[in-house]
Order: sequence, then C-alpha cells, then structure tokens
Amino acid sequence: MSASRHDGISRRSAAFDCNTVRADVFSTALPTQTTMSIEHISSKPYSDQRPGTSGLRKKVTVFQQSGYLENFVQAIFDALPDVDGQTLVLGGDGRYYNAHAIQIIIRMAAAHGFAKVILGRGGLLSTPAASCVIRKYAAIGGIILSASHNPAGADGDFGIKYNGSNGGPAPEKLTEEIYANSQAMHSYAISSVASINIYSLGQQRIETMLLQVIDPVVDYLAMQQQLFDFPAIKALFASGFTLCFDAMCAISGPYAKAIFEDTLGARHGSVINGEPLPDFGGMHPDPNPVNAAELLQRMNGAAAPDMGAASDGDADRNLIAGRNLCVTPSDSLAILAANATLVPAYRNGLLGIARSMPTSRACDQVAQALGIACYEVPTGWKFFGNLLDAHKITLCGEESYGTGSSHIREKDGIWAVLFWLNIIAATGKSVNTLVQEHWAHFGRHFYSRHDFEAINSERAAQLMQGLRLQLPSLPGRSMQGYCVQVADEFSYHDPVDGSTTSGQGIRLLFADGSRIVYRLSGTGTEGATLRVYLEQYQSDPALHQQDTQAALAGLVAVAYQVASISEFTGMQQASVIT
Ligand code: G1P
Ligand code: ZN
Repeated sequence: MSASRHDGISRRSAAFDCNTVRADVFSTALPTQTTMSIEHISSKPYSDQRPGTSGLRKKVTVFQQSGYLENFVQAIFDALPDVDGQTLVLGGDGRYYNAHAIQIIIRMAAAHGFAKVILGRGGLLSTPAASCVIRKYAAIGGIILSASHNPAGADGDFGIKYNGSNGGPAPEKLTEEIYANSQAMHSYAISSVASINIYSLGQQRIETMLLQVIDPVVDYLAMQQQLFDFPAIKALFASGFTLCFDAMCAISGPYAKAIFEDTLGARHGSVINGEPLPDFGGMHPDPNPVNAAELLQRMNGAAAPDMGAASDGDADRNLIAGRNLCVTPSDSLAILAANATLVPAYRNGLLGIARSMPTSRACDQVAQALGIACYEVPTGWKFFGNLLDAHKITLCGEESYGTGSSHIREKDGIWAVLFWLNIIAATGKSVNTLVQEHWAHFGRHFYSRHDFEAINSERAAQLMQGLRLQLPSLPGRSMQGYCVQVADEFSYHDPVDGSTTSGQGIRLLFADGSRIVYRLSGTGTEGATLRVYLEQYQSDPALHQQDTQAALAGLVAVAYQVASISEFTGMQQASVIT
C-alpha cells in the first residue's frame, strides 16, 4: 500500500495485523468473532462514484460489481479523521441489497479501527432515526443505506450516504473528498470474519470492535416524546380522530405502528402498507399525489379518515392530506411555522426558517409576519445543516415533501405528521380548516412541479445551456401577460462557512411575484430528469379554490415555451405532475 492517503489505514490496520490488541478487549463475556485477520484487497477506481444530491445512488446491479461498494466505503473512511475509539452508526431502509451491504460495512469498520458500530436491528434505520442516533450517542457519523424514494428490488436502485457528527448529510467539501478518494482507490481493508448476526439485540465483538445492535425505533420514539404533546395527541385519537398513514411498504412502517398505533392509540390498521419489503412491494415510495393515489382515494371517499399521511423509502419525506385535499409541502412548512408555538418543543418561537430555492415562498410570508429571517438555499438537505448548527433557523423544508427542524439534521416524515397532529389536537381544527384559514390570512401560493423523466442527458444539458444563453435578454420581456423581472442562475453563499455553491437552478422571476425554476435532478439513475417548478401568488380569497393546474396554466405555457421543452425532450407532456 502506498503512502499518503492510505497511510492512516495502513497504520490502523497494522495494529490489528500484528496482534498488538490489548488483552482486556476480549475479557468480557460478549459473543466474539475474532479472526484477527484484516485483509487488504486490491481494487480499481470506478469513475461514477461522485455523490449526488443525497449520497451515491445507482442501480443495484452497479453496486453488485466487484469492489464497488467496498471502494466507496473505503473512500468514506479515508476522508474521516482518525477513527480510533470512535463510534459509527449504521442502518438502512431495508431495500434489496441492504443486508448484504451491512455485512460488508461492519467488516470494513472492524478493519478500520472503529471502537464501536451501532446498528439498527436487521440493518434497519430510517434516515431520521439514524440522524437521531448519531446525535444521541455522539458518534463520529453514520452510514445510511438508502436510495430514498427510488424504486427498490433486484432491478431497482440502491444508495449509500455518509452523515457527520451533527447527524446531517456530509457537506459538499466532504463528498468531494470522498469522490476524490474513490478515484485514487487501489485497495480496501476488510475483516474476514464470517457472517455476522445482525438480528439479535445486544453487543458482540467483531475483531476488536464492539457491535451494538439496537432497536431501530426506541431512541427515535423517545425523541419525539420530548418534542410533542403526546398526551394531547393521545386524547385526540381517544376522541375518535382517525388517521390513515401509508408506509408504502418501506421503512416508516415499524416506526409508524409503534408511534401512532401502539403509543398514541390510533386505531389498529391506521398504518397501511406497514411491512417493509425488499422491493417495497413494487410501490414507488415517493409520497406525492401520484404515487400515494391509494391513500388519496381513501381521503376522497365517503368514509375518509380525518387525516391522511404518507412517507417515503427511508421515512424522511411526508405527505399530509385532509379530506379531498392534499397539502403542498410548501404550504405545510408555512402552516407548521405559523402554528409552531402550539408545540412544546417550539413554544418559545422560531429562530428562523429556511427553504430550498424552488420551494414556494409561502413560508417567507410567515417569517415576515413573525419578524424572523427566512433563508433560501440550494436543493438538498445538506444546505440546511450549517444554518441549524449556527442556530440561525429552527424549521426548514423543501417542495419535494421534506420538512424538518433543529431536532435532528435530516428531514423527518413522522415528525411532520406528529407536528400536524399536535396542532390539530391543540386547536381542534381539521387539516382543511387549518389550510383554508392559512390561505385566507397569508394568501395562497399556487404551486406545482412538472418532471420530465429519463430524458437524454446531452439534450437536457443543451436545454439548460439554451436557457442560460437567454438569461440576459429575458428581463423586461412579457409573455402571456407575465413580465420577466429577473432571470438568473441561482448561486448560494453560505452565511456560516462562507462557501459558494453555483449552478443551482435557473430562475425566472416575474413582476407579479410568480416564479418559474428549472433544474436537473441530482438523484436520478436513468438519463436526466428535468424539473420545472411553478409558483403563482394569489391574495384574493375568492380565487383560492381554483384547481392548481388551471390557476397555473398560463405560467406553464410560458415555462414550456421559454425552455423549448418539447423540442429538446421530444415530450409534449411532463412524466409526473405534482
Ligand atoms: C430530490 C429533491 C430534493 C431532495 C432530494 C433528496 O433531489 O428534489 O429536494 O433533497 O431529492 O431527497 P433532485 O432529484 O431534485 O436532485
Ligand atoms: Zn427519502
């Protein structure tokens, strides 16, 4: 093994290789798998290991290539400071390949000198639960296995991401370092222990490392009990309030059952599709009105429950629905912010709010009314971390069904549902009433996202370049009655660490406050996905009941025309409209 980057690894591994382990390490009665054999397996770089919006996501078949996962894990470990004596948290959303990957990562952690790995039983941890556990046990960080809402199964997607000691996604500086490491890879270190029992709670030794298998729900539930008024929510359910939570056959099922049904007394069966399956039962666990159609159908039926909710593959997203009403995530963030002081954890008010750039400006108005700051950051949860750590914000959210707060450093699906339940319990108002009253007070931001999926990557890049070239000539132009005021490409200057992130989406801002945003997805695994975000403000309550697509029709036409979408993509219509 060469010097430089691999130096640390060689040193740490050498300690194991030459049997210099302290005798007391094995003096306990813990089950121990000790072969004391750390192998250095030679490997070669894979050029496609640059993490995207949220970690490295690829087809399962890509991860199944020899050394592919191992290289990326080695690249993560190489990017960390000395891990001797440190704890690593590990778990995933249970999708196909999860259990296999868990075995490899434990063996690699044991080879790298971690003192301890905390593992969710069966290799399971939702993304927000992993963030909670990292923070609670002061771990150096955690590895979360998930491709979030991307479809699962042998032909589906797999993903891996690293979260730091604050419990949040690795910042770009670190993900770039991980990528650089992966490109210089020529070997990885791994223990040769045989199959590890990941299903029995308790502790065992793997080489000199302690492996602690924990219940994936316990710490997360305890945290939520600290934040929300559980007795009030329990009383709400006892009074006959009904909830339908669609776990979409993904990881939120066990959490939702334990919290809503077992702890808060929601009627048995309130959680549907509650068994996590390796292929998510063929569902597409991205909780939007298209994928959560079964839930929304129930919410529109005669026997509809009082509230509907859903979460995604790794349980960090949320969808909130009332009867015949699906709350947009942007509205949800604004409504939570406006009512936050009803929740025990936020009783003293909010420090500030942040939203991703394409998210509607509904929360900006609440922030203004509350006299607090509202930050606009690029897409991706990692950009909220610094603001949360620096105590500049308390709540944050994205239009992509993600909402969260300072309680952890990830978005949190079940937390959002609990927040709504707490507000309903405190006010006695329904989801629909809360939304209608919010619009009446602040005005309504009609909002929609049109996605063009699996388009040719080169054509997608050309479309974006075409827009870029038009930027100087657009201001002042009027189309379908919409007059462009500002046309730019979003760049973010992080007020905490001073870093600048550019190329974060093209924005057309119109004189009436409407917006069109274009960006390419950073999480897809097939070709490119163009996302077009549309927002139009309406202050007149008489016009609040319009259908969203009808209200936005003029803006949609402008958006398609300016970017020549059908010319570049060959598509007349978006693949998904939410
Ligand atoms: C998508 C969402 C984004 C979210 C990310 C991870 O990323 O748009 O808001 O943070 O998934 O859940 P995109 O595919 O747009 O890059
Ligand atoms: Zn997710």
